[in-house]
Amino acid sequence: MRTPIIVANFKMHRTAAETVAYASALVAEVGDLEGVEIVVAPAFTALDRAGQAFANGPVKLSAQDVHAEPHGAFTGEVSAPMLAELGCAYSIVGHSERRALYGETDKSVSAKVAALLAGGLRPIVCVGESLEDREAGCSQAAVEAQLRGSLAGVEAARAEELVVAYEPIWAIGTGRTATPEIAQEAHQAIRAQLGEAFGPAAQSLRILYGGSVQPDNAAALLAQPDIDGALVGGASLDLASFASIVRAAVKQ
Ligand code: PGA
Repeated sequence: MRTPIIVANFKMHRTAAETVAYASALVAEVGDLEGVEIVVAPAFTALDRAGQAFANGPVKLSAQDVHAEPHGAFTGEVSAPMLAELGCAYSIVGHSERRALYGETDKSVSAKVAALLAGGLRPIVCVGESLEDREAGCSQAAVEAQLRGSLAGVEAARAEELVVAYEPIWAIGTGRTATPEIAQEAHQAIRAQLGEAFGPAAQSLRILYGGSVQPDNAAALLAQPDIDGALVGGASLDLASFASIVRAAVKQ
């Protein structure tokens, strides 16, 4: 059985003080739920205080990105050991916004995945096709190529530590969600590919759906057999909405 995991991706929203207020309200709201893993990914500047707010509690902390090297002359960057020190259990890598706006490639994502695993953090590796890929009928090939490149070098023995997030780019922040059937088909293909790469570990590895997940569509998505959770952007900024998505995961 795979424990569902619901991740809040705050993107560049919420100051440290706002994140701390959200953190304590979130723990009060859903902290006692069992059978779901809750993760919050605030901005780098909020990680320290959020880490203290979540310490020893049920909600886990994630970064939104990481540098591939543990230290060095990389102005403006943050490394896996620095994130681990603040209590991060996870980091998102390869988000489509970073791929589109900051030149992230499958190769750089794979180096970041290696850095996270070396530093004892779990990578949340994002993949997803563009609208052009979908309209050209090559969604699956696009996702397959991203996955192969982004996970190159991961040993099967570490595969269970990975979380994969399938986020069709055309659904991110657009209010246009993949139907549960489209998402399930993509997740099933991803799991099959992970099975070829890693063997039985693919059955324990969690695959999240992301892209306009809302309280009113979460349950149908999460009911799909290969959808093991959600990566939630916009709706995570509203505590009541995020809590409702977390509750939908428990009911599955
Ligand atoms: P969204 O973002 O829920 O606002 O579509 C999801 C994401 O980008 O992770």
